Amino acid sequence: MFNVLSAYAGDPILSLQLAYRDDARADKTNLSIGLYYDDQGNVPRLKSVIEAQARVAQSTQPSMYLPMSGDPAYCKVSQALLFGQDADVIKQGRVATIQTVGGSGALKVGSDVIRRFFPAIEARISNPTWDNHRAILEGAGFKVDTYPYFNRDTQRLDFDAMAAALRQLPAQTLVLLHPCCHNPTGADLSPAQWDEIVDIIASRQLIAFLDTAYQGLGEGLEQDAYLIRALVKANQSFLVANSYSKIFSLYGERCGSLSMVCANADEASRALGQMQQAVRRNYSSPPAYGASLVQTVLNDAELNALWRSEVDEMRVRIQSMRERLHQGLCAAQPNVDWDFLLAQRGMFGYAPVLAAQMNRLRDEFGVYIIESGRICVAGLNTGNVDRVARAFAAVL
Ligand code: LMR
Repeated sequence: MFNVLSAYAGDPILSLQLAYRDDARADKTNLSIGLYYDDQGNVPRLKSVIEAQARVAQSTQPSMYLPMSGDPAYCKVSQALLFGQDADVIKQGRVATIQTVGGSGALKVGSDVIRRFFPAIEARISNPTWDNHRAILEGAGFKVDTYPYFNRDTQRLDFDAMAAALRQLPAQTLVLLHPCCHNPTGADLSPAQWDEIVDIIASRQLIAFLDTAYQGLGEGLEQDAYLIRALVKANQSFLVANSYSKIFSLYGERCGSLSMVCANADEASRALGQMQQAVRRNYSSPPAYGASLVQTVLNDAELNALWRSEVDEMRVRIQSMRERLHQGLCAAQPNVDWDFLLAQRGMFGYAPVLAAQMNRLRDEFGVYIIESGRICVAGLNTGNVDRVARAFAAVL
């Protein structure tokens, strides 16, 4: 019966994670999947989350189903984080938010809802982007194409080409954007460039779908929400998917949210209903535990402040590793211009690494990066960064 099933080639990021796990070498370095490691090379447990776990463990409540839209307290704190504390758009009831199974779940539910009500439109993703963006959008039935984003010759954002392409799109095209810490390139837009993109979205009547998985790891929690708030200011209707995997170091709990920003409260209540229906059809309701941790931290002034300082610490450490990698590469190859690495933000660096060089990095040096040349800078630490820089210099 199932003989018709073809083999799955595997996911390029998740497959490497397994290969890394099974690598017996002691001095291996994982710069493949987007995981934040501390300077000791461990995926940390945040102090704010440990305290929340202790508080949640006191609960004597049974484990009940959450509503389709998830924990209301979690949705509320997610709105504050994304749109700003006491944002007018929230007070006006114009934002419908649900808890989702990670950021991927948010992308899936949002794609399903838009596809259902805009069956004729196409979707556009940046070239390059996170591989799963295309997979999720195509899985929802969209025809997906790319808009230019990154210039491999300059190793930098190609803003003019991006803006020009978006200006040509038919009205209502779904455009996936990374508000900060672009995955995989780390090349972000400045606030002034985002303003220009917001103008294009408004004048071309595009449907922006924002995927924000790294808020706080670029410039800061508020700064990294610039695009979200600029779209609100421009009175646009759009979607935001967010993830707490990285910024709470809660990868396995699959905590995310999906918000639809609408023209008025009535529209938002219908948007909420449609998201609930899509959830019911996909997985019925989200899991409770991780969301209880996130909302416990964000709802407590002291834990919230502690968490913010922990996110700051992660950002500063990633940036210092980026600088150390840059120094190491400049020292090993003084004739190459490595400054593009310093212009990148967030968890990732993006270098012109060819597939054969990637294989050598892995096989000879135990350094794992993904094939596109994306380097998870957050996997570097003071103990491995010089060795990694020498490995890169040896293969490039
Ligand atoms: C990544 O880009 O490495 C992460 O978002 C993890 C994943 O699921 O791919």
